[in-house]
Amino acid sequence: LIIVLDFGGQYNQLIARRVRECGVYCEVKPYTTPLDALKAQNPIGFIFTGGPNSVYDEKAPHVDPAIFALGVPVLGICYGCQLMAQTLGGQVTAAQADSAREYGKTVTYYDPDCRLFRDLPNCGVSWMSHGDYMAKVPEGFALVAHTDACPNVAIADERRGFYGVQYHPEVNHTEHGLDMIRNFLYEVCGATGDWSMGDYLKTSVAAIREKVGSGKVLLALSGGVDSSVCAALLAEAIGRQLTCVFVDHGLMRKNEGDEVEAAFAKWDLNFVRVDAETRFLIKLAGVSEPEHKRKIIGEEFIRVFEEEAKKIGAVDYLAQGTIYPDVIESGAGDAAVIKSHHNVGGLPDYVDFKEIIEPLRLLFKDEVRQLGRELGLPEYLVMRQPFPGPGLAIRVIGDLTKEKLDTLRDADAIFREEIAAAGEEKNVNQYFAVLTNTRSVGVMGDGRTYDYTLALRGVTTSDFMTADWARIPYDVLDKVSTRIVNEVKGINRIVYDITSKPPATIEWE
Ligand code: XMP
Repeated sequence: LIIVLDFGGQYNQLIARRVRECGVYCEVKPYTTPLDALKAQNPIGFIFTGGPNSVYDEKAPHVDPAIFALGVPVLGICYGCQLMAQTLGGQVTAAQADSAREYGKTVTYYDPDCRLFRDLPNCGVSWMSHGDYMAKVPEGFALVAHTDACPNVAIADERRGFYGVQYHPEVNHTEHGLDMIRNFLYEVCGATGDWSMGDYLKTSVAAIREKVGSGKVLLALSGGVDSSVCAALLAEAIGRQLTCVFVDHGLMRKNEGDEVEAAFAKWDLNFVRVDAETRFLIKLAGVSEPEHKRKIIGEEFIRVFEEEAKKIGAVDYLAQGTIYPDVIESGAGDAAVIKSHHNVGGLPDYVDFKEIIEPLRLLFKDEVRQLGRELGLPEYLVMRQPFPGPGLAIRVIGDLTKEKLDTLRDADAIFREEIAAAGEEKNVNQYFAVLTNTRSVGVMGDGRTYDYTLALRGVTTSDFMTADWARIPYDVLDKVSTRIVNEVKGINRIVYDITSKPPATIEWE
């Protein structure tokens, strides 16, 4: 076990993730955790994270200096490095010259004899973010990296296994950063790298059982990756103490509702599927304004969920599939509302529960998918692309009818089939069909048609905040177009959306 001691830096979970990527189990603990509690966990190493403070500030967080007498190696990053330096008798001051304050990508030279840099090139770009300077390095430490502006970018006491770096090895911008972390774990701490997501599953199941005891848990299942994995994990841990309410609003893709239900058949839990299609369609009838549609769906969803929750009565926990990026993004300030995103979960006002539990809170998306696989969820659920909460309601432009939804479902299914058949899934991060409200004239056989135009959308993106349109090969688009027009009644023209985000958004509404 590696303990990541958290001093409030913005990349702290990322450090934990990097350690896990190296196949080493780790836990993030607040810096206020008493030394005895840390010791009791028998860590093979500590990583001190960055943090917003300066070590010489009055209110700056500290550690019990006895931590350095445990005989356990320490890697200090940024604030963690300065804290170690100061605690062990060095001196840290505000950088006097602007040149000693470093932010962003900086070419850094490493000492190849240091264990941290073993088998790495002796220079590379590192990601700096510090305004403080180690004026005096503590006794026993050597300088092991420098930049053109700063002579002491990394310090090492090889004998005691103490290392400090001013840059952030955990971010992707630091070349070989992961290798440095791996070197610390393997070369210095003696980790073997045999930890896996299977182990994480076991630990989580045990932790959930301990926390929940004989209590009852309620979860709103959307069928998305996060809520599905969360539900499966809880089902694995506590079986019938879990009730999953799956509100089928009738706005899902073809066969999706049944697929979600089937995926949970292997667990003995209370699975409640609410067939609410008619309710939603009645509420949405004649509504064509996108935000209005979103609001109606959000509200109706809450109402249906609330009714089910009332039937169940008081529960101890409300479970949510919050994942780590949600935790970071939720602190992101008040950006303009472009679309009111509706997601299931987050309904605490309406349900009688004592506490929220978020078992995926520390995981990144790809780790969540991996955990889903460990749990035996089918690949189509685990690898599902993002799907908006309001579902196909915002992919039928203008007002909705069941017929339009069915038409779109059929067309969308063909698009997905052909993308899969062409092996293009890995090249396109999200793809779907949109039924527009434009009709145009066509000719089929010898007859005139006057039918709807279907738009295909495919995007490449890493974060869905910005996106480019995907260069899906013409022959694939050709096949999709031919099949849809021939097989789906009511569509006689297909267009491909070639706008990036911004200025467009990924969804049309
Ligand atoms: P836009 O259209 O804003 O979408 O570029 C960005 C990503 O978010 C998805 N999306 C939603 N996801 N609830 C969600 O959970 C929503 O209401 C919602 N609306 C859009 C969209 O599919 C894309 O991946």
